[in-house]
This record gives sequence, structure tokens and C-alpha cells, in this order.
Amino acid sequence: MSTEEPISVLFVCLGNICRSPMAEAVFAHTVKKHNLQSKIPKIDSAGTASYHVGSAPDSRSVSTCKAHGVPVKHHARKVSKNDFEEFDYVLCMDESNLSDLKSIKPANSKAVLKLFGEFDPEGERIIEDPYYGGTQGFEHNFNQITRASEGLLKHLKLL
Ligand code: 4NP
Repeated sequence: MSTEEPISVLFVCLGNICRSPMAEAVFAHTVKKHNLQSKIPKIDSAGTASYHVGSAPDSRSVSTCKAHGVPVKHHARKVSKNDFEEFDYVLCMDESNLSDLKSIKPANSKAVLKLFGEFDPEGERIIEDPYYGGTQGFEHNFNQITRASEGLLKHLKLL
């Protein structure tokens, strides 16, 4: 695709408190590290479910990001049909997110809807729900998200 137009990216998971705010934070950090903010000025996250709307990210997501020097700032919100007009890329974590998003994506939307893990050069497509597991799940998510962030920038021909 053309890299002339600014690109916007929305990350989506179920609750918007664990994986997608981590993806938003890590991707924004990666974009900044490569001085690409003018190419990708809009990065956000949302959830398919509404039960955590308004909440700050899970403390385990925040501490994992902080341990790697990545700042996190977000309040959970629910994804909407309008997001498919607002964002060029809507990238989700697992197959359940993907099917939920397919069911709300307007037929005329040009947004690219994919698993974020499709951009992982190690080919780990699913970023598993870490909510009921231990902190090692968050660390694993972090490593996948870091690889996929670089992978997405390469796909966009920005690296
Ligand atoms: P997330 O994780 O989708 O990565 O934000 C979850 C957060 C909350 C719940 C499930 C997954 N929950 O069941 O409340």
C-alpha cells in the first residue's frame, strides 16, 4: 500500500484492559523509537465487550510494559462500527475477536481487519487471553506484540 497517507491503527481484544492497551502502548513506543509519528499519527485500542469500559489497564499489563520501559495510558472503551471508518487497520488478538469484529464491520468499510499476530515474523498468530493466567502470560504477550509491531512497520514499508 501507499505510505504517503498517514495511517491509523486500532488494536482490539475482549476487555480492552490486558492485550490491546499493551499493543497500543508497545506499537506507539515502537513508532516513536523509529521516528514515524508523522506516518502513523493515530493509534488506539478498544474491546469487543463492555464490562470494563472506563477502567484503566490491568495492573499486570502496566507492570509488564513498565518493566520494559513502555508507558501505558488508556481507559477501556468498546469498539464500534464507526471505528471501521476512523481506522485504516483494525488488528485483533484471537479468532473470537476476529469473528466478533467481522460481524460489526460495515460492508463498505475499507479498513483492513486482521489478527495482529499475522505480522509476527515468528508466525505465532494468536495472542492468547492472559486474564486468568499468571504474569508469564503477560510477558509472552509482550514479546509477541513487540515482534508484531516491528513486523507491521516492515509490512507498511516504513522500516
Ligand atoms: P483482554 O483480557 O481481552 O486482553 O483485555 C481480558 C480482560 C477481562 C476479561 C477477559 C479477558 N474478563 O473476562 O473480564
